[in-house]
Amino acid sequence: MLSKSLIVLVIVTMAIATESPALQQLRNKLDQNDYNSQLVEMLELSLAGGQLDRVFELLQKMVDDLTGQINAANLDHASRMAGFEQSIEQLEANLASIQNEVQTNSRKVGEITQAISTLTSTSVAVKKQLETINQREEQIRDNRQKEVQAMETKQSASSKILAALEEIHDRLVKAVLSNTGSFLEESEKKEMIKQIKKELGHKHPLALLLEFSSKFDEATAKRAIELIEQIIESIKEGQLNREANQTSVEQNFNALVNEVTVVRDKLEQDNQKTTSALKNKQNDLKIIQRRNKQLYKNQENTQQLLETIRVQKDLYDSNFRSNASKREGQLNSLKTALQILRDNEQALKK
Ligand SMILES: *[C@@H]1O[C@H](CO)[C@@H](O)[C@H](O)[C@H]1NC(C)=O
Ligand SMILES: *[C@@H]1O[C@H](CO)[C@@H](O)[C@H](O)[C@H]1NC(C)=O
Repeated sequence: MLSKSLIVLVIVTMAIATESPALQQLRNKLDQNDYNSQLVEMLELSLAGGQLDRVFELLQKMVDDLTGQINAANLDHASRMAGFEQSIEQLEANLASIQNEVQTNSRKVGEITQAISTLTSTSVAVKKQLETINQREEQIRDNRQKEVQAMETKQSASSKILAALEEIHDRLVKAVLSNTGSFLEESEKKEMIKQIKKELGHKHPLALLLEFSSKFDEATAKRAIELIEQIIESIKEGQLNREANQTSVEQNFNALVNEVTVVRDKLEQDNQKTTSALKNKQNDLKIIQRRNKQLYKNQENTQQLLETIRVQKDLYDSNFRSNASKREGQLNSLKTALQILRDNEQALKK
């Protein structure tokens, strides 16, 4: 497009064009394009009008305008390019910071995963220990119960023997006190022996003594009473011993249960600590993984934006260069025209 000045140039002169040597020279010198052929045509018309000074003035103004436009465009280009550079640098810095954080997070994920693996094995081990200690306690209590049962069985068995022996003893004593003659009936004797065998066993000395005495006389009865008293004494002693033993066994049992309880409490604390540490780490992992997902998205967006801006910058720059070279061409044409007209000034004035 031709500038306003060039249009003014047309209005200044309205004469019939006459081909001058200067214009011929100019036509030969300039490249063939719309701008140049319009320029030559305008000059032709203007010169025909005869106001040569005004033509110079306007041509010079056109050179100045275009030079001004070129300078302004160069400044604008520099500032636009600086803007692009700044955006690119900012985006590159963002990208670097994102990549930095991704790297830091990857390291953290590794550490947390390692910690989770360690805590998981600890947790498994502690739970297994807890299970073992619980089994141990159960076994201790079980054993104790069996002991108590066995003891009660023994005590009640010996109480039964004791009662039976005491009854026989009383009968013998009564018999000795009341009667020194025929003494006990054969049937009573048999029943007594049967009872003794049942309580004390077939080969018990007392059973043998009564069974094989040819005469069940007072002396035999006294001997039997003595023997029964000894047996009663030893059974009672056995009962007392068992009771005393139970006390110490019970203390031992309580000590064992206490020990187990202390260990279990400690294990339960460990278990709780491990479980809560594990939960925290798993939570940390989730947070960091969420953050990483966000970072990857940001990274992708930033890379895309960077690519877009680089393309925009290149496109803008190449457009500018093409515009700039057009303007330079136009400026050269104007300068060439000015020069040729000046060179031919004298001839043109005629
Ligand atoms: C005490 O009881 C325990 C367990 O029942 C037994 O092994 C031990 O022989 C008993 N000791 C005495 C002195 O009875
Ligand atoms: C180039 O010139 C065209 C036409 O005048 C204009 O629309 C465009 O904005 C210019 N581009 C640059 C980068 O100067």
